[in-house]
Amino acid sequence: MCSLKNDGIYLYFMAKTAIKILDYAYFRDKIVPFSEANISIMTHAFMYGSAVFEGIRAYFNKDDNAIYILHVKEHLERILNSTKIMRLNTHLSVQEMTDIVVEVLKKNSPKEDAYLRPSWFKDVIRIGPSLVCEGDTDSFIVSAIALGDYVDTQKGLNVRTSSWRRVQDTAIPARAKVNGSYVNTGLAKAEAILSGYDDAIFLNEDGHVAEGSAMNIFLVRDGKLITSMGNENILEGITRAFVTRIAREDLGLEVSYRSIDRTELYVADEVFFCGTGAQIAPITAIDDYKVGTGKPGLISKKIQDFYSEICRGKVAKYKDYLIKIAY
Ligand SMILES: Cc1ncc(COP(=O)(O)O)c(C=O)c1O
Repeated sequence: MCSLKNDGIYLYFMAKTAIKILDYAYFRDKIVPFSEANISIMTHAFMYGSAVFEGIRAYFNKDDNAIYILHVKEHLERILNSTKIMRLNTHLSVQEMTDIVVEVLKKNSPKEDAYLRPSWFKDVIRIGPSLVCEGDTDSFIVSAIALGDYVDTQKGLNVRTSSWRRVQDTAIPARAKVNGSYVNTGLAKAEAILSGYDDAIFLNEDGHVAEGSAMNIFLVRDGKLITSMGNENILEGITRAFVTRIAREDLGLEVSYRSIDRTELYVADEVFFCGTGAQIAPITAIDDYKVGTGKPGLISKKIQDFYSEICRGKVAKYKDYLIKIAY
């Protein structure tokens, strides 16, 4: 059950993890206290899922008393692609949205890792799901929470393939990060948790491995990385592209993008999830088959360690992917 506490706002969800919502959000063209960022129960986006969003992480580094926001440009470029697919009317450039994201984080000034949630949504009251209507207002919002791990990144996850298939590009495009399509994720994640697993892997309608519930997936076979292709009904992940780059350029690993059979999951040496929320999360069991040694794999750990250094601004080569806010 979800509940709100009076002393600061903490939202509880099923995993009994408390989420701390930060005090300020961006809502209808200004920064307001989070409690004032509210919409009508008849808003189009609420009734029909007509909104798109991104999750952006910010990493606090106590050694230099600064917080680093990761991949802002990439996320805000992708949100514009999502708005285009969803026919939302936007009035802000990537730079203008970047300034807002930075302002929200500055106003909250968390001294811990945080997660920002920018979103464009159909901010009108209208009956009928059509995305096209002249004069519709579509709004940009940004909320923020404090967030450590979204899924466990240390122990090795125990996951299952979902009985739910990933949404198809012919129905609801997974390439766009559409709020309404996350009922697909919700069904898979709930099924996984209720049947005793940590998370889920989606197959697509062709029976190939698509991605995790809200993260992309990599397999390691014979020292080489494999991930599903962009046209396999996945969200084309920013972390997936970044892992590909660091694996090739910095760790000297081969990476291929190709279709993956379900049984390849069972014979892989290592498997890990990656995503802004998930970060790099090793998987150690799938459908009750042990993955490799049954412990987080060495290549997964190597990528995880390097990624974590980058996120906290410790790798000069990748500082351009971060926006630093010094306190
Ligand atoms: C369905 C889905 N796939 C993959 C990802 C990972 O994408 P990214 O690395 O861009 O965060 C996410 C998270 O945003 C997601 O929700």
